Amino acid sequence: MADATGNQEAKDYGFGIPVANPVYELKGANNYDWGMKDRLSRVFNPKSGKTVMLAFDHGYIMGPTSGLERIDLTILPLLEHADCLMCTRGVLRACIPPTFNKAISLRCSAGSTVLTELNDECIGVEIEDAIRLNASMMAAMGSIGGKFEALTVKNICKLVETGNRYGIPTLGVTAVGKELTRDARYLAMASRVLFENGAQVIKTYYCAEDFQKVTAAVPVPIVIAGGKKLPELDALKMAYQAIDQGAMGVDMGRNIFQAEDPIAMIKSVRGVVHDNMTPEDAFTMYNDLKGSQQGRE
Ligand code: R5P
Repeated sequence: MADATGNQEAKDYGFGIPVANPVYELKGANNYDWGMKDRLSRVFNPKSGKTVMLAFDHGYIMGPTSGLERIDLTILPLLEHADCLMCTRGVLRACIPPTFNKAISLRCSAGSTVLTELNDECIGVEIEDAIRLNASMMAAMGSIGGKFEALTVKNICKLVETGNRYGIPTLGVTAVGKELTRDARYLAMASRVLFENGAQVIKTYYCAEDFQKVTAAVPVPIVIAGGKKLPELDALKMAYQAIDQGAMGVDMGRNIFQAEDPIAMIKSVRGVVHDNMTPEDAFTMYNDLKGSQQGRE
């Protein structure tokens, strides 16, 4: 209990020393409130400024995807190596022990699958449930130029509105769709539109030509999705080139959990993202770790 009398006198005022007022370094985020910065600092490692997000939300549109049939067997061993987990609330509650204490990017849009019309979505997760699940970020698809453009932009706006009210950032995901191209012109357009509507982080695809135009066009962090499974060296090259051209991380799924050795792969991806490893060095590391006991620690 505090005493009113007999205390040491306060005297260490540091006269002449300006009060520390550090800048919050994450791209575009300096003017956010404390809670949102704290959540973003759980997603983006404050030391490297980058993130390795492990995406395993595919089931919400694809059902039991290869590598995700048994989350407990295939994904749990990877969790400690990820900075942030991108998943649905179903998987989070049923399969992920809360003791892992990782940032969560919660898939909040829902409504269609690969069997029907992709991107015909609503916001399926209300803010109260995102808060209950201690989400660090809420994710929704934005289908720019697609049939459901207006609907999906409205979904992003809804997440941004409620997220801003409670200090939870929104991840705008540029949608895939048969009719949507993946060149720099389109990806910059789609990413910029999601940013302009308030998304604090953008997830999009890497493109081999002019990807730096995509990251330059968006004043907030961009993370890249991995896409379909590639040979491991190619996936590491893609991650390297994306980071080299301004991406602030990966939100990678199939290229990690469908790799021959997923633990070795996520460690090698971390080497590229956080430690500036070249893809060749990271691939050597992958091969060294592959199948070894070290790869599973
Ligand atoms: C798309 O939004 C999916 O839900 C995944 O989160 C995303 O595609 C990343 O996974 P992958 O690296 O397998 O493409």
